[in-house]
Amino acid sequence: MNHFLLTGRKALVTGGAQNLGAAIATALTKAGAAVVLGDVNAVAGEAKAAELRADGAQATFVHLDVTDEASWNTAMPQVISALGGLDILVNNAGIEVTSLLIDFDPAALRKMLDVNVVGTSLGIKNAFKAMKPDGAAGKGGAVVNIASVSALIAFPALSGYSGSKSAVDRITRIAAAESGALGYGVRVNCVYPGLIGNPMGPVLLKASPGAI
Ligand SMILES: NC(=O)c1ccc[n+]([C@@H]2O[C@H](COP(=O)([O-])OP(=O)(O)OC[C@H]3O[C@@H](n4cnc5c(N)ncnc54)[C@H](O)[C@@H]3O)[C@@H](O)[C@H]2O)c1
Repeated sequence: MNHFLLTGRKALVTGGAQNLGAAIATALTKAGAAVVLGDVNAVAGEAKAAELRADGAQATFVHLDVTDEASWNTAMPQVISALGGLDILVNNAGIEVTSLLIDFDPAALRKMLDVNVVGTSLGIKNAFKAMKPDGAAGKGGAVVNIASVSALIAFPALSGYSGSKSAVDRITRIAAAESGALGYGVRVNCVYPGLIGNPMGPVLLKASPGAI
């Protein structure tokens, strides 16, 4: 039995235009899923979707600002229509701000919390509404939230980012409990990537004195 066979599955990947989100979308299509890339970066998102289609996958770009409920309300019918349903949401969109606590900028922290915490929560909300038995997709499914190793380890200069990813960890567990208790039929899990060799990873490493 192939545990990575996703033929016929329908997935939305937020922040899917580049780097980790684009790699997740590629892996999903290689496993047989159809994907929508939801992102604020339309140029990169359209290009990635075209690249996946050229490789034979079913892939579409939809504009989505995960921080904005109105954007979700516009995007979700487009996503469900493009895919013919929805089984998987990968809540990948996230931003990183590095700063020592003594220097931190409240506006930058609020912006990051908006994407990493509010955005992830709005993703779960919309996935539940769509996937639960009386939802527009209606067949249950899976939500995968992208946290970070920094949710679990004390990296200096990453208090805000780590706090936002620790929040993703907690929100995941509560979402899973709510889904189970209320019969939504949606599994909710969280992964904790380590440093990845794209721009965010090295910035994180450089800004974190004595981390490694
Ligand atoms: N790079 C790493 O080392 C690393 C390590 C652990 C976890 N992560 C996490 O993995 C995820 C992806 O990281 P990455 O390195 O690929 O980041 P990245 O900055 O390369 O890509 C993030 C994507 O999210 C999109 N995005 C940003 N704000 C958005 C919004 N409001 N609505 C929709 N899309 C938005 C961007 O346009 C971009 O396409 C993030 O959640 C990040 O915190 C990254």
